[in-house]
Amino acid sequence: MSSSQFPFPTLPANFTLGVATSAAQIEGTAPGDGKGPSIWDAFCATPGKIKDGSDIAVACDHLHRMPEDVERMKWLGLDAYRFSFAWPRVQPLGQDAWNETGFAFYDRLIDTLLDAGIAPHATLHHWDLPQALQESVGGWQSRETAHHFAGYAAEIARRFGDRLASISTLNEPWCVATLGYERGQFAPGLTSRQAAMQVSHHLLLGHGLALQAMRAVAQARPDGRHPQLGIVLNHTPAFAAEKTPADLQAARIADGLDVRWYMDPLFRGAYPADAIEHLGADAPVVQAGDFAVIRQPLDFLGINLYTRQWVSTREPKIPAPEPHGVNDMGWEIVPEVLTQHLVRLTRDYMPPPILITENGMANADVVAGGEVQDTPRVAYVQGHLAAVEKAIALGADVRGYFYWSLLDNFEWDSGYAKRFGLFRVDYDTQARTPKASAHWYRAFIAKHKLSRQG
Ligand code: FCB
Repeated sequence: MSSSQFPFPTLPANFTLGVATSAAQIEGTAPGDGKGPSIWDAFCATPGKIKDGSDIAVACDHLHRMPEDVERMKWLGLDAYRFSFAWPRVQPLGQDAWNETGFAFYDRLIDTLLDAGIAPHATLHHWDLPQALQESVGGWQSRETAHHFAGYAAEIARRFGDRLASISTLNEPWCVATLGYERGQFAPGLTSRQAAMQVSHHLLLGHGLALQAMRAVAQARPDGRHPQLGIVLNHTPAFAAEKTPADLQAARIADGLDVRWYMDPLFRGAYPADAIEHLGADAPVVQAGDFAVIRQPLDFLGINLYTRQWVSTREPKIPAPEPHGVNDMGWEIVPEVLTQHLVRLTRDYMPPPILITENGMANADVVAGGEVQDTPRVAYVQGHLAAVEKAIALGADVRGYFYWSLLDNFEWDSGYAKRFGLFRVDYDTQARTPKASAHWYRAFIAKHKLSRQG
């Protein structure tokens, strides 16, 4: 894949280039390793929830193939790797006893990354809540879960804080709350908007409590070595299909429930008034002092951005124009939205340094002669990196980009049918093959590293 067809963007010399994964999507659940079940194990076992009927028992078997997967990251030349801890792997019930076998795996992973010169960026909660907490207290419907989460966060910070570049508390709380508790599409599969909004509040509370707990651990550390602390939000900017009052209002509410619902409490200490009004009786119960806990200073803000949402209130709906097509999930490809959104966040919130913690595309990859020519994915990555370059030129303080994902993996309710990886995974043999996008990203990283010399 030539750089003349997809020219390399120019990013600041200290800009970090990485890839991202998550535990439930790649690790596999080895029997006898002491891991407790997560809500995703339970969800997969419920007929009809996963489109291809698959589960996460093996996934990419990363648990046993970690060293060779880190070799692949080294081959790519990555500066950084974003992974997640599986909470039920290290604390099977989500409270009380720890599982040393689970900690040992992450200990090896972090050391292997450091030996390879790759900075480890960890996420504490990428959706795989211990099933025991779901059964005992209703998962994130309970404030208790927020407190258990802070205990888990402190333990991770104590054990690994001196070797991690960053720790994000939550991955995409909007997905946990809305897809998991309102739309029934994700684990635990509930369908109540009121429950979902209360869950969103408890997630934010858990984030704030976890940051406080991890900062206390960092302050007590004699060596003074501690990771950058932050959160990862998914933003899908809303666009009104027509400039009618109805469409403009619907797009404003969509923005209020997606972007501002999480940004406002984190940066302004309140939920957006228009979204609260829209929710009526479904608005969450907030206790005195909660916003002070939620509004902790952040060392960085992680943004995951894949696409935009097109809001039309007409029947039939006005379809979106498709300037760059759609990916295999049906998500529109619109790289300039990333530029616009980064500039908007900078203007509206004055955030700390931003990391693009996820961006990538599912493609209907075809293997031909042992190779995968995933040209649309190369165009996608190139387009979005160029969008980041533009955002930086317009004043956004963006410090890194993590492609989602290293490997094809378990794409939640889509099972293994949707492929996002730079490496193709053959699930029969677990063989990994670098796609054309992996070769392009590798060449781009090499060129980017050259800019650091001299
Ligand atoms: C994000 C998730 C990630 C992956 C991508 C495609 O919402 O954080 O786990 O599934 O979408």
